[in-house]
Amino acid sequence: MATTTTTEYQYILTQKDGRVGIVQLNRPDVLNAISPDLMVELVDALETFDNDDTIGCLIVTGNAKAFAAGADIKRMADKSAVDMLLIDQLARWDRVRKLKKPIIAAINGFALGGGCELAMMCDMIIAGEGAKFGQPEISIGVIPGAGGTQRLTRAIGKARAMELILTGRMFGAQEAYDMELITKVVPDEVVLDEAKVLAKTIANKPGVAVKLAKEAILKSFDTTIEGGLDYERKLFYLLFASQDQKEGMTAFMEKRPAEWQHQ
Ligand code: HXC
Repeated sequence: MATTTTTEYQYILTQKDGRVGIVQLNRPDVLNAISPDLMVELVDALETFDNDDTIGCLIVTGNAKAFAAGADIKRMADKSAVDMLLIDQLARWDRVRKLKKPIIAAINGFALGGGCELAMMCDMIIAGEGAKFGQPEISIGVIPGAGGTQRLTRAIGKARAMELILTGRMFGAQEAYDMELITKVVPDEVVLDEAKVLAKTIANKPGVAVKLAKEAILKSFDTTIEGGLDYERKLFYLLFASQDQKEGMTAFMEKRPAEWQHQ
């Protein structure tokens, strides 16, 4: 299917590849440092794809040198606590985790600070062998502010999260994989291709079930096992109201491929 590129943004590039929506961070001079303006555009693009019925899965990527080397330090350095509170740019970051469609981070190079946190807000992470992750905030006098202390800890456990956040040490893609932080390590030059293969596979599954599967998995992070099982069961029952459940089960019995309506 045709690939279409749009250029209405200043700090990101967006592209549709079949049912996959791709957002590329595009501030190469500063290693894709995430300024408030970039975040406005990123959230706008992601929400636009999330609301687009012709899109089934999203990818966020950077360039060969950096996914993102963190929040833009030059834009934060002279701010007061009250400035930070009033600007509250992190409220916008929260909107990434409210996206309903799956989102894959495709990472080459640096994913540091807010860059690592943005990756962890995504649902899956595919990284090149040369990718470098880290939460280096301690070395500039702060701590992670966009979920690093929470998401890294849940992903890799307390003892390893403590070491990484308290030292600010960078770690490579293989270590990230071994710690179960990321989905897959691939050669650097095929990161985006691999992400697209995964995204297309997901985008061609029945969309309502995909959204509810994502919702149920994320629920497991903030509920008890009992609450989570109840939640899952209700979403499972709810899917019997979808056209795709009828089509999927009928197609199975008729021994033919299902034709999804994503409804
Ligand atoms: C602003 C940044 C930046 C950042 C790099 N640059 N990271 N600008 N904010 N986070 C800029 C540099 O100033 C430089 O611009 C250009 O990008 C290239 O970077 P170099 O340092 O020259 O490249 P290199 O020597 O290859 O070193 C790469 C690096 C280093 C190791 C990634 O840039 C670095 O340590 N960056 C900061 C990483 C970091 O501390 N991130 C956490 C930020 S705080 P000039 O103009 O000098 O050429 C954070 C908090 C999140 O993310 C909380 C939520 C908002």
